[in-house]
Amino acid sequence: MDKILVHGGHPLSGSIKISGSKNSALPILAATLLTREPCVLRHVPDLSDTNYMLQILTHLGAGVERASGTVSVRAEKVESVAPYDVVRKMRASVCVLGPLLGRCSEATVSLPGGCIIGDRPIDLHLKGFEALGAAIRVENGNVKVFAPNLHGAVINLRGKFGPTVLGTDNVLMAAVLAEGTTVIEGAAAEPEVCDLADFLNKMGAKIEGAGTRRMIIEGVKELHGAEHAIIPDRIEAGTFLVAGAVCGNGITINRVEPKHVSAVTSALTDAGFQLQSTKDTITVSPNGALKPLKLTTEPYPGFPTDMQAQMCALLSTTDGISVVTENIFPQRYMHLAELKRMGARVEIEGATATIQGVEQLLGAPVMASDLRASAALVLAGLKAEGVTEISRVYHIDRGYEHLDEKLGALGAHIERVKAD
Ligand code: EPZ
Repeated sequence: MDKILVHGGHPLSGSIKISGSKNSALPILAATLLTREPCVLRHVPDLSDTNYMLQILTHLGAGVERASGTVSVRAEKVESVAPYDVVRKMRASVCVLGPLLGRCSEATVSLPGGCIIGDRPIDLHLKGFEALGAAIRVENGNVKVFAPNLHGAVINLRGKFGPTVLGTDNVLMAAVLAEGTTVIEGAAAEPEVCDLADFLNKMGAKIEGAGTRRMIIEGVKELHGAEHAIIPDRIEAGTFLVAGAVCGNGITINRVEPKHVSAVTSALTDAGFQLQSTKDTITVSPNGALKPLKLTTEPYPGFPTDMQAQMCALLSTTDGISVVTENIFPQRYMHLAELKRMGARVEIEGATATIQGVEQLLGAPVMASDLRASAALVLAGLKAEGVTEISRVYHIDRGYEHLDEKLGALGAHIERVKAD
């Protein structure tokens, strides 16, 4: 398994281009199953997660071609059983359930297991499918959904931790071919859900209210092929903005939608940085003394849980006491144990972490545990004294396109070491 070595203390400067959004590409790739006609998707990031999804589509019988960032999919005929050996590698595979239900009136997918950031239930997904008229069976670790005819319904998808992103995507993708009108109350409003709705409407779906908590879907008989450009990845954008905050002399990110990262730019402004935006770029620069933060993760447009670990890396060396509360995945603190190995001073009480900023972190061998925790360890290493060696970097490759190369282009001394 590869390792990444980060030699700390080299300030970043310059600019980089943000890739297409992983969390938009995954459901949109699944949505191509809803039509027998060809679809063309641009800015699909080259990640292990998107490549897993392409493998699943191929296993399901779709023709798939990739030419750099452009992917063409033609699902002329589809099977309804997703292959366990690929599905088990990526929880987001669950988002093929909705399109398979809509297209084939049935679907079988292995149940996503838990993961390091916490339990990953799909009860809300299944509640939505049942409301649309599907029968659900869970057996031998698989979930089978079956509905000879899907009908419209009023569905509340809000769970105890708020809306569900992939749950909203899944129910949306089943409802577009259901008979009649579906109303999703408590819908997720993330930009990635809006991007999926935009793509589905280009395919001939009739969806209103994307980006609000109430979506209305008029079912149609069938969908046709479409072309679509995936939105920029707001979490990659946020990650690079925090990198610029950790040790930058001013870095600019290009091809970004500033509105999608406003919670992160507001937090960095509150922390004492200067943030300047144009239509599709954001520049972060030092701007005097830094201030500690009180940060709470919320559903969009609140502060994103996927940026919590990266901010903890920044706050570890911000003078004063910062308090971070994780409302979406309360156990999502694996990165803190590793930051403490680098000298961070952190106390965790339930879903709240209290961080006492220290002068300097020290490079150390650390272990990546999930996608965003891994990125946080790289960010911490950028400023730490000495070398930080991050193992299990396959987590990073799941969700960041060439993170080490992009940081290197900004001046970081970072190298990937092929391990046995
Ligand atoms: C999506 O996961 C993202 N993944 C996650 O990003 C992100 O952290 C998460 O949304 C929250 O924003 C993709 O889009 C591929 P949820 P998802 O359903 O949809 C609970 C990354 O790093 N819940 O919105 O699986 C759940 O346990 C990844 O890119 C239920 O209780 O998350 C959680 O506490 C990590 N029942 C909360 O809701 C359900 O049926 C939000 O989960 C579904 C979810």
